[in-house]
Amino acid sequence: MMNTKVQNAINDQIAQEFFASYLYLSMMIYFEGQSLGGFAHWMRMQAEEERAHALKLLEFLIERGGRVELQAIDKPAADFESPLAVMQSALAHEQKVTKRITDLYELVVAERDYPAQVMLQWFITEQVEEEASAGAIVDQLTLAGDSGSTLLMLDAKLGQRAGME
Ligand code: FEO
Repeated sequence: MMNTKVQNAINDQIAQEFFASYLYLSMMIYFEGQSLGGFAHWMRMQAEEERAHALKLLEFLIERGGRVELQAIDKPAADFESPLAVMQSALAHEQKVTKRITDLYELVVAERDYPAQVMLQWFITEQVEEEASAGAIVDQLTLAGDSGSTLLMLDAKLGQRAGME
């Protein structure tokens, strides 16, 4: 029997991961509209990763005999000012997710749910990578400034991102 507080918090996090997937799809649509296919590809991969994060949590609840309750997903932002603004939003979003994962981890420690602690350690490690990869693109776009050719070089590079890294 799963601890109800832990179960509810994991259900909330499942919704957050699906929201992140939805947000990155919205960002993908923006980049497609700007003819930046590489950035769009990167966002499509990112959206798939977030869906995988949601499924990882969902399957954990099922395995533990917990109750999965899918929740409504908020409407993501759809208007963005520039590629840099999009990536800054993506980074800010990941920082928020890191905080949520940390809060969730603190809860499962307090509730002495050891399997959830082990499972969430994967997410803690993943967040380091998630923040680093979005942060690197923010830095590169900042360095690129108004240079269209540098933007296109970065677009070509991001277009090479492999699925489910
Ligand atoms: Fe599921 Fe980008 O964290």
